[in-house]
Amino acid sequence: MTRARQSRSNNSVEIPLARRSSPVRRVAPEKVKLFVGLSLALGVSLSLVFFIRFNSVFFKGELPLPSQDGRVLGHYPYSEASPLDLIAVYPGLEIHKDTYSALMAMSAAASRDGVDLVLLSGYRSIELQKEIFFENKSIRNQIAVERAKVSAPPGYSEHSTGYAIDLGDASRRETDFEESFESTPAFRWLNKNAAKYHFVLSFPRGNPQKVSYEPWHWRFEGTVESLRKFQPANELLRSN
Ligand code: DAL
Ligand code: ZN
Repeated sequence: MTRARQSRSNNSVEIPLARRSSPVRRVAPEKVKLFVGLSLALGVSLSLVFFIRFNSVFFKGELPLPSQDGRVLGHYPYSEASPLDLIAVYPGLEIHKDTYSALMAMSAAASRDGVDLVLLSGYRSIELQKEIFFENKSIRNQIAVERAKVSAPPGYSEHSTGYAIDLGDASRRETDFEESFESTPAFRWLNKNAAKYHFVLSFPRGNPQKVSYEPWHWRFEGTVESLRKFQPANELLRSN
């Protein structure tokens, strides 16, 4: 080896190892375990927080906050009828006494025209509406916003006023609570005559409240008190 080469070779040996290559850092296995453990704990805690939040809104009876016009999921708030104003049409089915008088007159007129109306439901307490809304919702695995299209949240159903009724056709019971009710003689008759008895179809197709079409659901608006109850819904209908 020449002197020069020897000298280069010696020089290279003198350069410290650490300066010649990037350092290889070893992470202690304990630190890796700690990091994984903490990440898991954070993940589980966050999932728990989201689960509790979801659970309380959708299953435990909490509802979204009302919008500026007081509606929840499209439905206006309605107070319960006074028990003194309710009449039992048959056991387990009550309606407001004013609805009753109008319904009796309307049914008699329909009968004279060969149409047999069936009263399917009437007054519902807020407690009962709570059961219907939340239990059906969890049975059908729907989220509140979907359920509200077919059933009002408790405190927001026209049925609580005693002025809303669901009607069927005695000759076509398979259409009870079905859209196909619109093809029955009863619906055709109601469409033509219900207004004479101050009954109004609450949720026609494409209604501005965005509730599903319910050809069987009619509300009575023949008194000052009932008209006042449904004024917000009627104003919305007129403004659309
Ligand atoms: N089915 C109507 C929307 C109600 O529950 O009041
Ligand atoms: Zn109804």
